[in-house]
Amino acid sequence: MKDLQFNRHRRLRNNETIRAMVRETTLHTNDLIYPIFVAEGSKIRNPISSMPGVYQLSLDNLGEEIDEVVALGIPSVILFGIPLEKDAEGTQAYHDHGIIQEAIRFVKERQPNLMVIADTCLCEYTDHGHCGIIENGQVLNDPTLDLLARTAIAQAKAGADIIAPSNMMDGFVAAIRYGLDEAGFAHLPIMSYAVKYASAYYGPFRDAANSTPQFGDRKSYQMDYANRNEAMREATSDVEEGADFLIVKPALSYLDIVRDVKNNFDIPVVAYNVSGEYAMVKAAAQNGWIDEEKIVLETLTSMKRAGADLIMTYHAKDVARWLGAK
Ligand code: PBG
Ligand code: ZN
Repeated sequence: MKDLQFNRHRRLRNNETIRAMVRETTLHTNDLIYPIFVAEGSKIRNPISSMPGVYQLSLDNLGEEIDEVVALGIPSVILFGIPLEKDAEGTQAYHDHGIIQEAIRFVKERQPNLMVIADTCLCEYTDHGHCGIIENGQVLNDPTLDLLARTAIAQAKAGADIIAPSNMMDGFVAAIRYGLDEAGFAHLPIMSYAVKYASAYYGPFRDAANSTPQFGDRKSYQMDYANRNEAMREATSDVEEGADFLIVKPALSYLDIVRDVKNNFDIPVVAYNVSGEYAMVKAAAQNGWIDEEKIVLETLTSMKRAGADLIMTYHAKDVARWLGAK
């Protein structure tokens, strides 16, 4: 035994103080973006059964939620609108008084320093549930771009701080950048859902946003989950077109992609810890099968370790509480 040669890695793990000194990755409340579902109407506070702790809220119930987010020190929210009326062209997405525009105005008035990110897509506003215009059962690319640019401009006029297009049409960043610049919003950043996979992990979100496609699926525009090189092509296009942030979505099953994006591009990377990832953790925690706090902190730290600068997560309020208590 005396002459045995080996390295003593455990020296740096001896106690919590030294572990904290050598820790490579830290999760901060500043990293968090909290998604909120805003429903048109009044007195709405509908729990989403597959997402315990998450609600559809009408504007009269939004104030409390927003104040809580700010009090917890979370710097930003991303808003999703649920309109009363849907139609084939998703008119309510770009109407100046659509629910999303009203929600943006409300939040900016109440909490001017909270960064409001607007999700820019049509699927919550179309009666067919697809993210673009439909003709003969196909989602049309170029005619959809025009509506996305109009949506982004309407959101910008309402006071959105960041535009986050999530529809996966080709050229959507170029079209939105051009539209925003023409309308006098050259200063507004675009947080592009650059790498968005066609994923079963969005199931609970579609319940929450009433946005399940009425026919077919989203595979002709969202990416095949088997592909990695394609993620680089998507991200490259979005950077060329003027994206200021790159989102990878979902997060947990795609940490390799988060790392690839981080290594290949020098703009901030955002991981979207999506609804299905949240639902799985909540279900297991409610059964007492896992320790929710420990699982969530480990999971979100792994996203940062993979290269995410920011994380969109339904756990944000809980995480802010847990980090604040440490
Ligand atoms: C809209 C959109 C979706 C999500 C964010 N924006 C759903 C989809 O593409 O079907 C999913 C978010 C989540 O699952 O938490 N295009
Ligand atoms: Zn969509």
